[in-house]
Amino acid sequence: MRTSDQTAADRRVGVLFVCLGNICRSPLAEGAFRAHVEAAGLGDRFEIDSAGTGRWHVGEAPDPRSVEEARRHGIDISGQRARQFTTADYRRFDHIVVMDESNRCDVLVGVDDPADVARVSRLLDALDDGPEEVPDPYYGGPGGFRRVWTLVNDATGALLARIRRARGF
Ligand code: 4NP
Repeated sequence: MRTSDQTAADRRVGVLFVCLGNICRSPLAEGAFRAHVEAAGLGDRFEIDSAGTGRWHVGEAPDPRSVEEARRHGIDISGQRARQFTTADYRRFDHIVVMDESNRCDVLVGVDDPADVARVSRLLDALDDGPEEVPDPYYGGPGGFRRVWTLVNDATGALLARIRRARGF
């Protein structure tokens, strides 16, 4: 979280995962990242959330197929509720982590401060190889959600390692 009256040692690192609907991919990314953070005993160092660029599903729980996929890995994401991304999120989060190029274009609409542009990254950029985008599983079957889980679980682990290296904790 970005606030001006805290020291560097106790300032939380804000990480926001963004997809289109905030019901399929970004809830899984939020759940996977949170699990990595908690397994590392770093829960008090991070502010973690997710959002969608669209507003169709605002207020809804994650898609049941994402809830089920997370549950298979021992993670409960059923309490999450979808919300829409806003440019105010640039003030709240250090890292705005998108699932695909279309999300990146959408979160950058009207953003011209280079410091804000630099906050945006694609999740799979945290991996050294493999695909560049987390595929949208909404119109597919359960296999798509398994694939999304594998990608976001690996990439959020790598993202946490990168953040820890950069911040020295
Ligand atoms: P998400 O998937 O962006 O991963 O949450 C989608 C969810 C809903 C829709 C599209 C993608 N939709 O068109 O309603």
